[in-house]
Amino acid sequence: MITPKARFLQRMKAAGFRSVDFLILALFFGYIAFMVAQLSGEVSFEKGILLAILSYYMLRIFYEFTFNRANVPTMATGFFEIKKIAELIKADFKAKNKPDYNVLDCGSGKGQMTRTIARAVPAAQVLGLEMATLPYRQSQFFKKVMGFKNIDYQQQDFFAHDCRNVDAVVIFLNGRMTELLGEKLYNELKMGALVITNEFELKGRWPAPEAITMYTPFKGNLFVYRR
Ligand SMILES: C[S@@+](CC[C@H](N)C(=O)[O-])C[C@H]1O[C@@H](n2cnc3c(N)ncnc32)[C@H](O)[C@@H]1O
Repeated sequence: MITPKARFLQRMKAAGFRSVDFLILALFFGYIAFMVAQLSGEVSFEKGILLAILSYYMLRIFYEFTFNRANVPTMATGFFEIKKIAELIKADFKAKNKPDYNVLDCGSGKGQMTRTIARAVPAAQVLGLEMATLPYRQSQFFKKVMGFKNIDYQQQDFFAHDCRNVDAVVIFLNGRMTELLGEKLYNELKMGALVITNEFELKGRWPAPEAITMYTPFKGNLFVYRR
């Protein structure tokens, strides 16, 4: 005979709940209880700041595990890595010396990467494809407020995008997704197209990349490929 607990778990699983969601729910209620306890006492300025920082990170974790189902965190590439990537793309733009230079950020998140590239290479057209709603809307908001004319964002799965006219691609995903996307890019990109990945390699049919190690302050790797 099936117990009420087993029936409850079966129903939750059928509704799409994963085991990790129960942990997230427990963490969420623990966080609410902690905040209620903290805020019901006296709250100094320093304590308020600490609670605000904690809340930011807790809400980000909840967001990643609940709404962001792309299985890739929405965290951005580091500041210095973004600068280096923009520098590499600027050099490629100069070397190719063509009027219609297209850059693609596969999974553009909140758009930090796209904005730095668009600023470094104003003559380039930068496209950011992002599936998750919240970072996509944030990127659109920043574009509007900062008045960028050479960036476009689309809420779209990058696997559905035709990459044949792209001159440079930037990627910061997880290992599996990077490899899968690498296959698609190998088939679609024109000869000479530049691909820069953060942390994970394309593998498959791609030749060995030029690896750039960054110490900023943690050790990170950029991989540079040429189709
Ligand atoms: C780690 S963030 C990188 C953000 C930005 N490119 C950067 O380097 O700062 C990866 C982003 O890719 C998005 N993403 C994952 N799979 C995607 C897909 N198939 N199509 C579009 N966006 C996707 C995630 O939602 C996430 O915002």
